[in-house]
Amino acid sequence: MEKTDLYPTIFRRKSVRRYDLTPLDESTLAEISEYMDNLKPMYSDIKTELKIIGPDDVKRRMMRKAPHYIAVFSEAREGHLTNVGFMVQQMDLFLSANNIGSCWQGIPQPTKEVLKSSDLEFIILMPFGRPAEPLHRDSVSEFKRKHLQKISDVAGAEDLMEAARMAPSAGNGQPWFFTGDESIIHAYSVKPSFIRGLLVKKYIPIDVGIAIYHLKLAAEHFGKKAEIVFNKPAENPPKGYEYVASLRLNR
Ligand SMILES: Cc1cc2nc3c(=O)[nH]c(=O)nc-3n(C[C@H](O)[C@H](O)[C@H](O)COP(=O)(O)O)c2cc1C
Repeated sequence: MEKTDLYPTIFRRKSVRRYDLTPLDESTLAEISEYMDNLKPMYSDIKTELKIIGPDDVKRRMMRKAPHYIAVFSEAREGHLTNVGFMVQQMDLFLSANNIGSCWQGIPQPTKEVLKSSDLEFIILMPFGRPAEPLHRDSVSEFKRKHLQKISDVAGAEDLMEAARMAPSAGNGQPWFFTGDESIIHAYSVKPSFIRGLLVKKYIPIDVGIAIYHLKLAAEHFGKKAEIVFNKPAENPPKGYEYVASLRLNR
């Protein structure tokens, strides 16, 4: 399997929900496991555990069956959900780049046995397998996303912001906003209303972690050093948003 630059995959990937149920062969699964065990964290001190499980280990709750699932567990600490978004999006892009479909899925849940198999908190599942539907989009116009002006007032850095704009999110909510310039980009997440918060609270930080990973990948693709820093700007955040993290960019 290819471990090349995943940046172009940002503009082709899509959620795959219909799978060929034939399991992937052992060597492909071994390569996927190896990649999964070497994901780059956003917070290196938060413990995570990712396991590949089968369809019998999952309560699907209306979602279609897949031959394999990644079950994601994490230590529950400040930033852990953003960290999961940042890490597991690397799997989504790696699988898509290698002609394997995947989809973030908050609805299905693992069985009790799987939940008990880790000391860490269960966070989310990602089904994957050979797709039984188109794997990629043919053009950026097929992405249903907010216009750039609605999610960013960053001065310049359009190429990077376009990569963040394409990020997948729960219910396609795109709960992010970015400020800054070509040397530092600040990421914010939407503060949901109380009622909406009950439904989406867990997913918003995951979504923002995904978008931050897209930003970092794009920056590195364009030859910049991209470092995650916590450098809350002095200015007030955009109304209705709260600060998450920043990406410092150097040539
Ligand atoms: C945290 C998270 C949870 C999601 N949960 C589900 C889910 O339970 N079921 C589902 O069909 N899609 C789920 N999705 C996929 C989104 O609906 C999808 O990413 C979004 O609509 C954008 O479409 P795209 O991924 O094809 O670009 C989830 C996505 C994220 C990021």
